[in-house]
Amino acid sequence: MTEKSNDISALKEAVLKRSEVLGHTLRADVVTFGCQMNERDSEKLKGILKTAGFELTDEEEGADLVLYNTCTVRDNAAQRVYGRLGVLKREKLKNPWLITCLCGCLMQEEGSADEVLRRYPYVDLIFGTQNIARFPGLLLKVISGEEQVLEILKEPAGSHESLPAERKYPFKSGVNIMYGCDNFCSYCIVPFVRGRERSREAAEILKEIESLVRDGVKEVMLLGQNVNSYGKGLPDPVNFAALLREVEKTPGLERIRFMTSHPKDLSDELIEVMASSGKICRHLHLPLQSGSDRILEDMNRHYTKESYLSLVHRLRNAMPELAITTDIIVGYPTETREDVEDTIDVVKRAEFEGAFTFIYSKRAGTKAASLPETRDSGEIGASFDRVLKTVQEVSSERLKRFTGKRMSVLVEGVNERDPKLLSGRLSQNTVVHFPGEASAVGSIVPVRLTACRGFYFLGERQD
Ligand code: SAH
Ligand code: SF4
Ligand code: F3S
Repeated sequence: MTEKSNDISALKEAVLKRSEVLGHTLRADVVTFGCQMNERDSEKLKGILKTAGFELTDEEEGADLVLYNTCTVRDNAAQRVYGRLGVLKREKLKNPWLITCLCGCLMQEEGSADEVLRRYPYVDLIFGTQNIARFPGLLLKVISGEEQVLEILKEPAGSHESLPAERKYPFKSGVNIMYGCDNFCSYCIVPFVRGRERSREAAEILKEIESLVRDGVKEVMLLGQNVNSYGKGLPDPVNFAALLREVEKTPGLERIRFMTSHPKDLSDELIEVMASSGKICRHLHLPLQSGSDRILEDMNRHYTKESYLSLVHRLRNAMPELAITTDIIVGYPTETREDVEDTIDVVKRAEFEGAFTFIYSKRAGTKAASLPETRDSGEIGASFDRVLKTVQEVSSERLKRFTGKRMSVLVEGVNERDPKLLSGRLSQNTVVHFPGEASAVGSIVPVRLTACRGFYFLGERQD
């Protein structure tokens, strides 16, 4: 039986009525502020809106509904949301019929939904990360005239897995294999805003992938905060390596990616499965965070500088074509210059093909939030620049090794700046631009890499 709040048909009727009153099909703009998981949630939310009769748009101006799917992993992510709320206010003043909605991680953060309602009284609906499936019912309340509808739940309510999704790309898709996170890295707010770790049943995941492939998908990205711990707590014990073996068997599926791997749980079995696979991409995102043992311990990461490097070594031995990318945090409380030197040392020795470098951002409620911050922002900025420079040098040097090779590229679109060029990705996840026709978008084509430009390649098609 469908739970009433998940019922899209009642919403559909209300949407139709309002369209008749306003004299046009209602337009909805969904803006995503966060990571791939946030992006996948947005695809589900867009699927609901489309099924309910909305036309989707990328423009806030002239929209009848705007939904911000927010992020709070770092303070600047949260500030970006607050900044955009000003834009919403302008639109609402122009169009009192505009429905303004907020959801996602920032809303799930303790206290922030109430604050938003107080400071931004023109927001109509707020919900969190645990009740996406209840969006149709909540939106219906707003359309029926209820003011400032708020629902934030601590535990997951309803499942949104079977809901329709409106995918950004027809040829590739994210697939949630697990939700939440139990790792409680000391700096991180994700476990607080995404709840406890829960894995989906393998059979369900496989069914979803099969149906995506039938729908034209060539590449899937298996999503979880720590995919390497997949399967814990399921009635039929299965681990991530075993899941990958099954996903590999899906006929018609050409590429498999996954995000994110926690170094502490990456098994030799997984390395074997990757190395022997014809579909798993030669890319691994393996967040390091810091190269200092003392900081790693304080961060609750459960690995050391040397154990991380030994893992990288095993991966590189098993798969010489593998690209390893990482995340690094600079400026963690109590971090010293020597700690930063350790991080730089790992960057050099691991020879990352790419890295995201972040300045530590204090998140309320996390363990690290109570630690003393010993260095000032100027010093941290200088360390950040040093790490960034090393990352850039190391990664462009590493990527150069692919220059001259003929490699497969999944064409993702026409280049935004130069319409004569197509842009796509290698199995290694690196972007390649090459001359071609728009008709190739969505296919996997052979391209010879002619030049490495730091973090991307130029190439030419070579069939
Ligand atoms: N689950 C993933 C990461 C999710 S958050 C993992 O464990 O690898 C993505 C990245 O944001 C993290 O890898 C980390 O580098 C960064 N990050 C998380 N919290 C942060 C904070 N408080 N300040 C700065 N960077 C942070
Ligand atoms: Fe955050 Fe750590 Fe969980 Fe990643 S594994 S989401 S960094 S707590
Ligand atoms: Fe993702 Fe940001 Fe939430 S990184 S899990 S959207 S806090």
